[in-house]
Amino acid sequence: MTSAISDDAARVEALRPAFAALLAADGWLPDACAQPDEASRMGSGIGQYALYRAQDGSLCLFSLVVPAGAATPVHDHLAWGLVGIYRGRQDETVYRRLDDGRDSARAQLEIAKRQQLRRGEFYVLLPPNDDIHYVKTISNTPSISIHLLANDTACVWRHRFDPDRGLVTPFRSGYANAPCPPDA
Ligand SMILES: [Fe+2]
Repeated sequence: MTSAISDDAARVEALRPAFAALLAADGWLPDACAQPDEASRMGSGIGQYALYRAQDGSLCLFSLVVPAGAATPVHDHLAWGLVGIYRGRQDETVYRRLDDGRDSARAQLEIAKRQQLRRGEFYVLLPPNDDIHYVKTISNTPSISIHLLANDTACVWRHRFDPDRGLVTPFRSGYANAPCPPDA
């Protein structure tokens, strides 16, 4: 387990320069993947668009469009990765889990940190560290974040959380522009 964590950390480190360059480059994100999605399963018009998915489910690149003033549910990712801002600004609230996770329907969460992010800024996911969070758009235009994660994020069953009530619900966000495999 320790070696798995250090391998993932090394992978993330190695990807930093290319990911920074992607966030800095203009013109590559299709307009169709930069729009709110009124049919969103996350609500609030939040759009999640697949840009690349490895066939074996080991990696994906997607854009997440969060309209001005909207916030995602509190959620986890269940994979290592890099997440950065391409347009707009976001406020991120990260939670720390205090219980042992034995009860699949309940979680005791407390806020671990908050940060504001603008274009070019990115953070690392190395579960279980910092894996539970939500983001809110604080620019007056939609924010677009770019995610490179080591799973097929929108198609795996993960979790959304209600920190005030201590509740956990199974959650599959789905891509707005691509179906999930029927057996996922
Ligand atoms: Fe997230």
